[in-house]
Amino acid sequence: MDMKGKVALVTGASRGIGRATAKLLASAGATVAVNYFQSESAAIEVVNEITKAGGRAQAFRADVRDGEQVRSMVGDVEKSLGPVDLLVNNASIGFPVKPFMQFTWDEFEAKLCGELKSIFYCCQAVLPGMIDRKSGSIIAISSTLSRHSSPGFIAHSTAKSGIDAFVRSLAEEVGPFGIRVNVVAPGLTLTDATAWLPEEQKAMMAEMTPLKRVALPEDVAGAVLAIASDHSRFVTGCYIPVSGGMLML
Ligand SMILES: NC(=O)c1ccc[n+]([C@@H]2O[C@H](COP(=O)([O-])OP(=O)(O)OC[C@H]3O[C@@H](n4cnc5c(N)ncnc54)[C@H](OP(=O)(O)O)[C@@H]3O)[C@@H](O)[C@H]2O)c1
Repeated sequence: MDMKGKVALVTGASRGIGRATAKLLASAGATVAVNYFQSESAAIEVVNEITKAGGRAQAFRADVRDGEQVRSMVGDVEKSLGPVDLLVNNASIGFPVKPFMQFTWDEFEAKLCGELKSIFYCCQAVLPGMIDRKSGSIIAISSTLSRHSSPGFIAHSTAKSGIDAFVRSLAEEVGPFGIRVNVVAPGLTLTDATAWLPEEQKAMMAEMTPLKRVALPEDVAGAVLAIASDHSRFVTGCYIPVSGGMLML
């Protein structure tokens, strides 16, 4: 899984799945742009950990829901680290967990538009260079909840299914330029985003999972590296659940 000579931009890499992904890609030889929004010190810690381990990384702040900030970030990444070969669209867009009838449109729209703006702006910023070079890879972090439902998760499910559809269409459009676009879809993963879930619920999910546990961020990072690597060079438009078998397609 050699990523030497590649530049990877991982959005939301200060914590959770993004952090584990940035570290794993760096350990495989990639130069990593660690995007963060609010957690500057956590992002710097990721960069320091990578550097200490002999890798190369730099932190870049941007709210990925903001087109201007994304364009400026990608410009800075390319100036400092070189053209982006791999985009991991991972940043977690928050949402309330509650029944549909308790949602306001503004809450629902914030999740839908936050997810779709982040992938839209990030892809539009990195694709021109990828198209020129006739190579590149984009991996969107979706969720198994884009393919099945869970009480209270209607905004998340709807937004992530939009990500899946976006990826299929984009994979078709940019395939002729040698660019691959895929979805990695985690099931329940132990990060800050799921820390609020009661322990009994996590234990119940683990029990229902064929591999008998829930995911760690490193499990998802491993799938990202596998799809990013040239060993997956003929894989595009795919949806890869990382759920210990909870979602089988
Ligand atoms: N955890 C799960 O069970 C699970 C399951 C399925 C899918 N996922 C998906 O996996 C991805 C990562 O989730 P996670 O659990 O690792 O989340 P997390 O631990 O809560 O970390 C969230 C990350 O996203 C960043 N972020 C949030 N808003 C941002 C914005 N507007 N612009 C840039 N960065 C932003 C945060 O940066 P700052 O802290 O610097 O603001 C942080 O690095 C998400 O797409 C999520 O939907 C997670």
